[in-house]
Amino acid sequence: MRTALIVGNWKMHKLIAEAVAFAADVLPRLSGARAEIALAPAFTALGPLVQATAGDRVAIYAQNVHEAPFGPFTGEVSAPMLVELGVAGVILGHSERRRLFGETDRALRRKVPAALRAGLRPILCVNERERAGDGHALRLQLQEALAGVEAERLAEVVLAYEPLWAIGTGSAAACARAQEASALVRALVGERSPAAAERVRILYGGCVTPASSGELLALPDVDGALVADASLDPASFAAIVAAA
Ligand code: PGA
Repeated sequence: MRTALIVGNWKMHKLIAEAVAFAADVLPRLSGARAEIALAPAFTALGPLVQATAGDRVAIYAQNVHEAPFGPFTGEVSAPMLVELGVAGVILGHSERRRLFGETDRALRRKVPAALRAGLRPILCVNERERAGDGHALRLQLQEALAGVEAERLAEVVLAYEPLWAIGTGSAAACARAQEASALVRALVGERSPAAAERVRILYGGCVTPASSGELLALPDVDGALVADASLDPASFAAIVAAA
């Protein structure tokens, strides 16, 4: 049985005071939830949010990490630095990192194992860019980014399927495709390790709202959601968590 995971990706939103106020508002709303919950704020709010959620059930994740533990990499942050803050995981390969900041599958091949080595749970995002059913693109991204992860640790990686072609077009098509694509992602993991494929969690990302989350999270191969816009408001984030 896979525990559902709901992750709020705040992207470049919320000052520290706003992040801490969000935590104070949302934590009581999450008390009865069965899902595992994570929030991924900007780097500046990580420490304050770790403190604001201490002893609670919300884990704090980063939105990126460098693959080296330390070194001459101006402007970068390493996995041991995040662990020192109390950060529990990291989103890797989000489509915005790939599209706007040149993140490559080759870099992810080093980042995913680096995160695992340091004790951070990686959420690896894989996208369909041009069209639905682009199994070739999903296969290439998974093969490359997971190449450095030994089979015994594959299930510790969380995968997030994001159909970029559907974002902004309404979520009905995405819902229909989400099960098919998630099953494909699971099958691709199964080519490396059938046992890992059973255990690995696959999130759906893109236009997840309180209205669409019930249908999405009921799909057999969808084990949670990666939520951006709808995670910025405590009531809507809590409603999505409640649907899981
Ligand atoms: P959204 O973003 O939830 O605002 O559609 C998804 C994403 O960019 O990961």
